[in-house]
Parts: sequence; C-alpha cells; structure tokens
Amino acid sequence: MRLQHGSLMWFPKLVYGDVAKAMTFPLLLNIFPELAEGYAGLFIAGILGSFSDAIFSIDTDYAISNIWKLLLAFGFSIFIVPLMHLFCAVFMLKGALYHDRVVLGRFLDKEYQKAMEMDVGEVQYRLENDPNEMRYYWMEVLTKYIVGFIIRKTLLIKTLADRLLVLYKDREKESGIDIEPDGSLSVLGRDVEFTYPDQKTALKYPSFVLGAKEKLAVTGRNGSGKSTLIHILTGLLKGYRGSINVNGRELRELNPRSWRRCFAYVPQEPYLFCGTVGENVRLGNLNAEDGALFQVMDAVGIAHLKDKTISAGGPELSGGEKQRISIARALLKDAPILIFDEPGNHLDPAGQLWLRDLIKNSDKAVLFATHDGDLTQCADKVLAL
Ligand SMILES: Nc1ncnc2c1ncn2[C@@H]1O[C@H](COP(=O)(O)OP(=O)(O)OP(=O)(O)O)[C@@H](O)[C@H]1O
Ligand SMILES: [Mg+2]
Repeated sequence: MRLQHGSLMWFPKLVYGDVAKAMTFPLLLNIFPELAEGYAGLFIAGILGSFSDAIFSIDTDYAISNIWKLLLAFGFSIFIVPLMHLFCAVFMLKGALYHDRVVLGRFLDKEYQKAMEMDVGEVQYRLENDPNEMRYYWMEVLTKYIVGFIIRKTLLIKTLADRLLVLYKDREKESGIDIEPDGSLSVLGRDVEFTYPDQKTALKYPSFVLGAKEKLAVTGRNGSGKSTLIHILTGLLKGYRGSINVNGRELRELNPRSWRRCFAYVPQEPYLFCGTVGENVRLGNLNAEDGALFQVMDAVGIAHLKDKTISAGGPELSGGEKQRISIARALLKDAPILIFDEPGNHLDPAGQLWLRDLIKNSDKAVLFATHDGDLTQCADKVLAL
C-alpha cells in the first residue's frame, strides 16, 4: 500500500519550524554587525562630509589633524565589522548543520512506519532531497549575503581610498611658479590656438593684451571661441598652443592655485550650490567679513536675498538674480583681474546700466566676453573674434 501524499504535507511546515528554531540565535546575533555596520557607515559619511568641506575650503590642516578619525572608522569597518560577520557566519553554519540533523532525525523518526508503506524509490527521493533543498536554500542565502557584503565593502573601501588620494595627490600646491595677485598684472596673448579633444574645433586667436587695470572686450558670433579663450585663461582648459604671458611668465608654467588668486571669474552659466544666497556669495571669499559681504550684495541689488535658502542650481531664483549672485561672488573676491563671460546675461535695463558703470569705473583689469554693443563701448580695447 502506498502512502497518501496528503499525509506528507506536514513536512515543509516541520522543516521551516525546525529551521527557525535552529537559526533563531544566529539570526538575532546577526543583527549586531548589521547595526554596527550601519552606524559605522553613517559615522564615516559624516567624517567624509567634513573632509570634503575641508578639501573644498583648502583647509588641509583640519583634514590632516582629523585623519585619525577617518582611519579609526576605516579600521573599524574593514577589520571589526567583518570579524563580527564571520563570528555570526560560524554560528549560522553551526545552526545550519544542526538543523539538518534535526530535520533528518525527525523525518526518519516520524516517517519510519509510513515509509515502510512507500515505494522504495520515493523514500529515497524524499530522504535525499527534502533536507538537501533546505540546506541549499540556506546556503544560497548565506552566499548571497556574503557576496553582497563584499560588494558593499569594496565600494566603501574604494570611496575612502579615493577621498584620501584627493587629499594627498593634490600636486597643484607644489607645482609651478607662484605669482602675486597685485594690481600690476598684465596678460599678453600671442598665436594662441586651441583644439578640443574631439579634433573637430580648432580655434585660432588674434594677439591681445590686457594691461594692468585695462578693460578688454572679447566679441564675436556664437561659437567664435570667446568662452573657450576665457576657459584657457582661467585654467579650466589646458593644452593651448602659442603663448599667454602673465607678467613675463608663461601661463602654463604658473602654479594654478596662485594664478587663481589673481582673478575673479563670472562664468557664462552661474554655478549655484544648495545653501543660502549669502553662503553662495561668500564662496568668492571665505574670509570676508559679514559687513563686506552685505556691502557687495547690496551693491549688486541682492541684499534682500541674503538668507534665502536655495537648492543646487538655484531653481528658486530668477535668471537675473542668479547672474547677480555670480557677479557678487566675483566682486567679493577682490582680485586684480575680473574675467566675465557675458556678464549682462538676464540683467534688466537698470542692471545693464549698473554693469557698464562697474566695468568702466573699476580699478581692476577686466576682460569680458559680450554680444552687447553698449557694454563693448565701456572697454579700452576690443578683441574681435
Ligand atoms: N567641450 C567642447 N568640446 C568640443 N567642442 C566644443 C566644446 N566646447 C565648445 N566647443 C566648440 O568650440 C567652439 C567655440 O565655443 P565657445 O563656447 O568658446 O563659443 P562662444 O564664442 O563663447 O559662443 P557663445 O557666444 O555662444 O557663448 C564652438 O564651435 C563650440 O561648439
Ligand atoms: Mg560663450
């Protein structure tokens, strides 16, 4: 007589119950490393945040004096947390073997009599496959878990290593000739040429001079290379041919950090970060007094926006307001050369008028790209592309 299949239905229930019993402790134990890992991740994220701040504000002293915190967190997540996981994995495996024994024991015990009534092949099939299926199930969970763990750790370690490299691989500090950001700076361009890496756009520039305190307008149709020239001058694009001479030194030989202190730059598209408008303007000069910040913002007509909170890119602001913030940021920097890429963008007629006055009466050298004939009139010279 054959055993009815219905009477075997208890089996999965029994197996799951036994598995749960055998694995309860290791599973509970496993919560601790998960929590520890989660908190370590948060802690590391916090430290990395302050590191990024330190790097952006070039506060290397802060970054180096707090490096032990980073190394501690690094060590904790690389050595201690995996040890906790290993400890739990051993318990888990022990539990798994134990559960196999229990399941098999129960199965043999309870089914012995009935098994006598089953076909030999079916007994063998059940004995061999049911406990094994459960075992494979748990092994799969453990394997996925371990693989997932390694992947998570790999990313964490890579991120930490990248951050540390940013801190120590900054060769800009040591490279190039230092230059003083004083009012005597002049820039002389001769046979300047630039080809974008796609090799499709090769730009050739006429010679130009931006003398100390001079105003030079760069004009030309869309795509004539105004912004490209500005990107070369500001060091955003490297690999120009020809010569750009700054007070007798070739631009490419200058220390980029030291050169950046010599100019303030308003890009064609303003860059805004999340925070307040005041904080965005302060990026021009992190050491500026509150009074100076307010004065600049007032002069540019955005004092009332000082405490307004914006998100990245400033979608909460009008185009003209963004442009004014970008100009205020450059003015707060108080560098001897102003480099403006279409500074009149989005400005209303009053703003345009104010901008013309600013350029005309500035005691700094100003190089600006523009399509605006009235603004061009404010220049001492025009570089027509
Ligand atoms: N990253 C890039 N890769 C390849 N080509 C580029 C890149 N950026 C700009 N160009 C090309 O270089 C040329 C000069 O561009 P650039 O932005 O300097 O012009 P522009 O004079 O500032 O124009 P606009 O008046 O529109 O601001 C254009 O033909 C442009 O398509
Ligand atoms: Mg442009």
